[in-house]
Amino acid sequence: MPSQAGKSFYVTTPIFYVNDAPHIGHAYTEVAADVLARWHRQRGEGSFLLTGTDEHGEKILRTAVGNGSTPKAWADQLVHDAWLPLLETIDIDNQDFIRTTEPRHEKNVQKFLQHLYDTGFIYRGSYEGNYCVGCEEYKTEADLIEGEGEYAGQDVCAIHTRPVERLQETNYFFKLSDFTQPLLDFYEQNPKFIQPESARNEVVAFVRRGLEDLSISRSKEKFDWGIDIPWDDSHITYVWFDALLNYITAIGYGEDEAKFESLWPASVQVVGKDILRFHAVIWPAMLMAAGLKPADQVFGHGWLLVGGEKMSKSKLTGIAPSQITDTFGSDAFRYYFMKAIAFGSDGSFSWEDLSARYQSELANGLGNLASRVLAMIKRYFDGVVPAPAGYNEVDLAIQAVAEKAVATADAAIDEIAIHEAIGSVWTLVDELNNYITVSEPWVLAKDEANRDRLASVLYTTAEGLRVLSIALAPVMPKATAKLWAALTEGKIGDLADQPLADSGRWGQLPAGTKVGDLDILFPRIETDVEGK
Ligand code: ME8
Ligand code: MG
Repeated sequence: MPSQAGKSFYVTTPIFYVNDAPHIGHAYTEVAADVLARWHRQRGEGSFLLTGTDEHGEKILRTAVGNGSTPKAWADQLVHDAWLPLLETIDIDNQDFIRTTEPRHEKNVQKFLQHLYDTGFIYRGSYEGNYCVGCEEYKTEADLIEGEGEYAGQDVCAIHTRPVERLQETNYFFKLSDFTQPLLDFYEQNPKFIQPESARNEVVAFVRRGLEDLSISRSKEKFDWGIDIPWDDSHITYVWFDALLNYITAIGYGEDEAKFESLWPASVQVVGKDILRFHAVIWPAMLMAAGLKPADQVFGHGWLLVGGEKMSKSKLTGIAPSQITDTFGSDAFRYYFMKAIAFGSDGSFSWEDLSARYQSELANGLGNLASRVLAMIKRYFDGVVPAPAGYNEVDLAIQAVAEKAVATADAAIDEIAIHEAIGSVWTLVDELNNYITVSEPWVLAKDEANRDRLASVLYTTAEGLRVLSIALAPVMPKATAKLWAALTEGKIGDLADQPLADSGRWGQLPAGTKVGDLDILFPRIETDVEGK
């Protein structure tokens, strides 16, 4: 979604459970949201990325106790040792990080609850049904399957394949059923609210079947790791009701009206499709009940699969992001997951595919292009970007490719088609490589009579690298920063100040710019990555 004038682009990730350390599935969501945030920032818009951790509930409590800890100490340890370091590992430029155990969150969750209670959207009732602690979700019969092995003969959660719990409690309920029609109307009036299309259809069909009221509290007789219900301290808040509110408590809901107004509604909330219903059904209904607008868009992306199954903590199939970045670096991690998997679809990760793309697309494609161009400018023009001496057809073709690559990529970002955006920019990488092959600057350099032609060719390639530095900055911040520094030597300002949408306009790199040394962008990987 393009953001409205004057309002910042506000993008969120889910807040992740701190029952365990992150794997590449979590990193995938973080990178996608970060690429969107950086892209808007590179356009010159205000841009705010929020991420964080979900720390309450029975799942965290059990994990902590099972590890001989307390839930708060356990959460502190995981946040400091694993979740905050993840952001460094994959180079996330977030503007805030919210933890649901922070006072700014707890206090304003209570404010929100009290408001809904006072306006009649929350009532006391009794709940009887099934609950899956792994999902932290109430389950209907349709969500259950027959257990196998040690759970044979029992009903188990279809996702976790473990028995559900039978609950019989007096709880507080949110009148979700009141919002069946308002939500359907909202989806109809805002056809892009849920994306991709398949996700939208699934949610609409679900809501058409009618919504039931939602239990939003748990009795403290069972466990007490959560936020107290403000008017009844024998109950704590249901962890999802607490967690969803992070998106507004982090930006000042209940205490900083000006900040809240400048960011809400969020431009896009990126989530995995496992938790789409919470974000596309319950969350907008909560906001409507409070008289607030739903987000502009919720995007439910696909799953990273391992052996055909969703990679998961509970099934111990997680790969730590650092296993990849230690060898390939954060830029390659970001590039690979964003380019190789169509955003919105599932994708299988494999070391072979990563390794092959690293070699062909990054090392040989972009890395080699950059180093050859700079080396030739050094060798043939003493390290000074030459002025083009007129353009012929092949040069003009490159200019057209550059302009189109940027325009198409920029439009793709508004559709959250991140893979298409990168693919579009990559047409310029490929065309520049072809152009060098065809133009043979090393042959031109042998004859003084071709000096003008050589100048045009090397100017064209250098200017192409300028465009690539800007358009790839949101995806590969480290490599593009190095390239920018070597190519421009500070002459046309910082990379961060180059407006992305205008980057395809030809001729912005001034002739006469002295180029610097370029570190190897994507070093050869000697190690055998098999079985890492
Ligand atoms: O659900 N492929 O937290 P969570 C792609 N705390 N993405 C994956 C993935 C995979 N295999 N595995 C996990 C929760 N993810 C709640 C959210 S929000 C108010 C509360 C990513 O730790 C994906 O974004 O189980 C998914 O939605 C999320 O991690 C679930 O993280
Ligand atoms: Mg989960």
